[in-house]
Amino acid sequence: MAGLVAFIAFPVPMHTCSLLAPAKINLYLEILGNHLPPGPNPQPDGFHELVMVMQSIELADQVEMRLLGRDAIVVHCDHGEVPQDERNLAYRAAAVMTQEFPDAYAQYGGVEITVTKHIPVGAGLAGGSTDAAAVLVGLDLLWQLGLTQSELQELGAKLGSDVPFCLKGGTAIATGRGELLDPLPDLEHLFVVLGKYRNLSVSTPWAYQTYRQQFGHTYLDSHDAMANRRQVIHAGPLVAAIVQHDFTQIGQRLFNHLEEVVLPAYPQVQELRDAFQRQPGVLGTMMSGSGPTVFALTKTWEAAEGAKTAVAGAIANPELELWVTQLTANGIRLAAHH
Ligand code: C5P
Repeated sequence: MAGLVAFIAFPVPMHTCSLLAPAKINLYLEILGNHLPPGPNPQPDGFHELVMVMQSIELADQVEMRLLGRDAIVVHCDHGEVPQDERNLAYRAAAVMTQEFPDAYAQYGGVEITVTKHIPVGAGLAGGSTDAAAVLVGLDLLWQLGLTQSELQELGAKLGSDVPFCLKGGTAIATGRGELLDPLPDLEHLFVVLGKYRNLSVSTPWAYQTYRQQFGHTYLDSHDAMANRRQVIHAGPLVAAIVQHDFTQIGQRLFNHLEEVVLPAYPQVQELRDAFQRQPGVLGTMMSGSGPTVFALTKTWEAAEGAKTAVAGAIANPELELWVTQLTANGIRLAAHH
């Protein structure tokens, strides 16, 4: 008994951990207007006020972390397009943690982070954001901080609008810049085919800025008008379909405002979307986030595989990569630790 008490009082610190960091798709993305920070005379901050339905998928990166016992942050990544320095969001997540928790940094030292990419880069699937979310969770464990989910989300919001969602994952309504989350019932047992051209990525700032140039005149411009619109979506048909697990309705209610600027600029993405839409068994198809990944939902794995094969044949472009995966209720999760 004494031994057990000693074990509880002085847990053996972990030195390494391995985390799975899932990608997300947007089942819904509506741009309400310029982001208005709270307060009586809010000034636009360059971001947009959004209403999104975010959904985690099983396609995931692996993030290995090892305590270094000295002052350093080291990032390795097996993907040629991913920087290994301060430009990497996983690196920045570790840097934010060293600033926020200097005592833990002094006690345990920094980390070596090894990211094995399975999520395509620059794709609208939050690949960078989910790696950063994994680093927050990993350092919380390795430094024994015991942070709450909302403390982690607050740290995540400093790094990027999608990072808070990536921490917990599952299905959620995201508002504000995307960092304010309302959970929805889990949506599993729905399958998804993703398609992306290897050589094509879309800049998220470009997509939003172009949208503002073209549609800025339609933006809502008061907190009240935005609150009303959020309420309409909360009470609307997509959320009802998710609550009822009505997969056919979910497929028909997919929406993304950014398609209006990305599809005309990238006809290849429009062609891919059309090819998915033509496949039997596809419930609905949409671009995810700022693209250029297009996804299609199906009720079965076989239908997803069938759509993948048919689209690969119809487009016949060696640059087109396709994946079959499924929706998941998981955010960042621990695969192993020592
Ligand atoms: O937050 P994150 O770093 O992912 O945002 C990338 C860019 O996307 C921002 O710099 C901004 O141009 C655009 N954005 C936006 N409104 C949001 C989220 C992102 O305009 N709510």
